[in-house]
Amino acid sequence: MKLIDGKAVSADVKASVAQENAKLREQGINVGLAVVIVGNNPASRVYVNNKKKACAEVGFESFEYALPEETTQEELITLVKKLNDDRSVNGILVQLPLPSHIDENAIINTIFPEKDVDAFHPENVGHIMIGDYAFLPCTPAGVMELIHSTGTDVCGKNCVVIGRSNIVGKPMAMLLLHEHGTVTITHSRTKNLADITSKADILVAAVGKAGFVTADMVKEGAVVIDVGMNRNAEGKLCGDVDFAACCEKASYITPVPGGVGPMTIAMLMKNTLTAAKLQNGIK
Ligand code: GUN
Repeated sequence: MKLIDGKAVSADVKASVAQENAKLREQGINVGLAVVIVGNNPASRVYVNNKKKACAEVGFESFEYALPEETTQEELITLVKKLNDDRSVNGILVQLPLPSHIDENAIINTIFPEKDVDAFHPENVGHIMIGDYAFLPCTPAGVMELIHSTGTDVCGKNCVVIGRSNIVGKPMAMLLLHEHGTVTITHSRTKNLADITSKADILVAAVGKAGFVTADMVKEGAVVIDVGMNRNAEGKLCGDVDFAACCEKASYITPVPGGVGPMTIAMLMKNTLTAAKLQNGIK
């Protein structure tokens, strides 16, 4: 078994973004990302801090908007519209989940597609479906980079995704399909899940349940990617995969932390750079 080092791969992505950003700065272009967080979700707070830190690392400006839990949908829409019109802001990221009184789709639909660095806007989702896109959703794009880092060719492989969220499962399946994988999306209502996952050459777990993927669900020699970010009973960060047991069978496996997490942020930096280039007419 070989460990897939998300920290190392993400450092490479960020280094190349930093290099391109330096060239933009020589042309007088300063890249900016607005990060909006509503309420006090502690996990969201950590993610937002990490995103701001990554901006500083690659030389982007970040603008944080930390709004109270009781912010209304109208107030949030007003802020997003202001950021849409702000030329110093190239990318807008509204951290999800939002408090339940705010309709997430209404917010996502307000972000200009050309500033939608999460690629959550229906227009960008449509581009991804067709396979003609500027932005890829950060987590699935990061997973593809990790798979590539192992030297695995997706073409013709059995790929199984566990989870069907709009953020990970669905776009993940699309990206694997674009690379000619034979893709199965599974979810909480799937019957005989282990029968399906144990045939996967590439298994991507995005369930949100600690230790959900057990060794009997993994094919000998599979590439196993763990998108999970869960806290166990002791409050320790852990993935969806029973790592200790599954690493006996996998050829490559991602750890949690240090696997997919850092990649999501690196791909966000890449998307923000792409947004700035597009907005400035640079290819
Ligand atoms: N919440 C969990 N993952 C993400 C993400 O990739 N982007 C945003 N905006 N919110 C998230």
